Amino acid sequence: MNQDSIAIEIKDLKKYFKEVKAVDGVSLKIKKGELFSILGPNGAGKTTLVRMLTTILTPTDGDANVNGHSILTGKNEIVKKIGVCPQVITIYEVLRAEENVEFVAAMHGMPRDESKEKAKKLLEDFGIAGRKDWSKRFSGGMKRRLNLAMSLIFEPEILFLDEPTAGLDPQARRLVWDFIRELKNKDITIILMTHDMVEADSLSDRVAIIDHGKIIAKGTPTELKEKYGSDNALEVSFIEQEDLEIVKKNIQNIPFVANSSEIQRKERKTLIISFQGGLKNLVRLLQQGLIDNIDEVENMKFRQNSLEDVFLNLTGRRLRD
Ligand SMILES: Nc1ncnc2c1ncn2[C@@H]1O[C@H](COP(=O)(O)OP(=O)(O)OP(=O)(O)O)[C@@H](O)[C@H]1O
Ligand SMILES: [Mg+2]
Repeated sequence: MNQDSIAIEIKDLKKYFKEVKAVDGVSLKIKKGELFSILGPNGAGKTTLVRMLTTILTPTDGDANVNGHSILTGKNEIVKKIGVCPQVITIYEVLRAEENVEFVAAMHGMPRDESKEKAKKLLEDFGIAGRKDWSKRFSGGMKRRLNLAMSLIFEPEILFLDEPTAGLDPQARRLVWDFIRELKNKDITIILMTHDMVEADSLSDRVAIIDHGKIIAKGTPTELKEKYGSDNALEVSFIEQEDLEIVKKNIQNIPFVANSSEIQRKERKTLIISFQGGLKNLVRLLQQGLIDNIDEVENMKFRQNSLEDVFLNLTGRRLRD
């Protein structure tokens, strides 16, 4: 990786709180303009890592370069260029929404006219422009969206988002995801901390999985699923046993089919087909094994291999326990 193309380089970074090894030797290179997620369960060390990278917390050992400056010595340079949306909502409750956003803009030296206009647009994008009362009265989800707007007002070169959709309803979550996707087109490097595998899967260029303060795997979502995931499963129910047998025979020699097994689901004969690869292979499987008998198929269910499977296979635990 070319040194100029690196936004963040983390070098064996550690943070111990007495006997708790919150971050335990993390090394990573994050490229400029990429959306890099750090996915892990509660207590894995995500927030501690962000707090070190944003120079709020001093490491026990190791170092990191953020935008070319060491977190140990370059605090003043680093904070000028980064935006942070912390996990714990940090807003001024006796300020209105736009005042909160404009306040952050002022701290970064943005001219007042520009910040007023930008704040208005951001709050409109996040669906909270209509609220004119103190932010103290906002719902949790509205506060979260306000906090995001505050982290984005000055278009940082590097943006840290710590659980940006925690506590949001599905609609607001989509809104934030769409917004993050738009940011990806603007050359901003984004580091996203999350325990939400759907979020990590759908937004990230690359993902590192963190557990007990250590990175246990990294790669693109597809790479991770191919390397550590389970097989996909397609469940097909037939009315007649005979049709099941035909399909079973059809798929026997398809190389990416791992195995097939029969079960009885209520009245129906059901074939569970495990196969490797992505959606393309699902289409191939349907074309090669099922299309001629599709009229005889009563029901079909598809379970796709996910980052949840990756975590489960790597640790023996679920992400959300
Ligand atoms: N200031 C602190 N003092 C003592 N222990 C701490 C402190 N901050 C974090 N820890 C511990 O470090 C570990 C990692 O915590 P951290 O908040 O970084 O995890 P996280 O991955 O962000 O979790 P979550 O998904 O719940 O936000 C935990 O065991 C936590 O209790
Ligand atoms: Mg956290």
